[in-house]
Amino acid sequence: MSRLIFAANWKMHHAPAAARQVVREVLARYRPVAEREVVFFPPAVSLAAVVDEIKGRRDVAAGVQNIHWEAKGAFTGEISAPIAAAAGAAWTLVGHSERRHKFGETDAETGRKVHAALAAGLLPMLCVGELIEERRAGSTEAVVLRQLGAGLAGLDAATTARVAIAYEPVWAIGTGVNATPSDAAAVHRTIRRWLAERTPPGSRHAILYGGSVNAENSAALMAEEELDGVLVGGASLEADSWLRILETAVRREK
Ligand code: PGA
Repeated sequence: MSRLIFAANWKMHHAPAAARQVVREVLARYRPVAEREVVFFPPAVSLAAVVDEIKGRRDVAAGVQNIHWEAKGAFTGEISAPIAAAAGAAWTLVGHSERRHKFGETDAETGRKVHAALAAGLLPMLCVGELIEERRAGSTEAVVLRQLGAGLAGLDAATTARVAIAYEPVWAIGTGVNATPSDAAAVHRTIRRWLAERTPPGSRHAILYGGSVNAENSAALMAEEELDGVLVGGASLEADSWLRILETAVRREK
């Protein structure tokens, strides 16, 4: 059984007090499961509250949703990887589709951010995924592999293996329309084949699925052996629905 990662992307939700409350409720009821990691990605100003709540839990981590590629400097409004790491982040998202499509983040920038994260000791979770027009045009594979190529450019094999990948089709994010488990698994296989040529033999690369995952569909998605976890937005905001998704992993193991 490979390691599973359950990641909560809170986007622009939950001020420090609310973030603290949700994490507290979740941890009061969630028992550690071997080879499972739960990661919270709160807004950066709520990171300290989350880090404080998860103190002492080796199976739970926190991260930031975005970083700048420079370590410091005159970049008003930005957060660097060393600053995020010093504030207690273990992870950072890179290239989330909202960064790419609402803020114009480029493929090249994702590569710089992945390098910056690794240099600061943060684990990057590189998000890739196609637009609906790209899927209809049959270019899903080309888009995803282009994003991987740019995001992981210049890394040696051992370092590439440290970058988690989240496949998040853009048309599935926040829409209520998730990829079917088999469609998600098919893209995961494409990603895994590409990574297998660029990572040390025998290593299992963490590839998560994201896009309208919820308590109703998570069990069917996680039944696909290709999925090493899920990256969840809306359904991770409340303790109850997030806990129901976390319990999916326990069921899969039986
Ligand atoms: P969603 O978001 O679960 O609300 O679709 C997923 C994401 O953006 O990571």
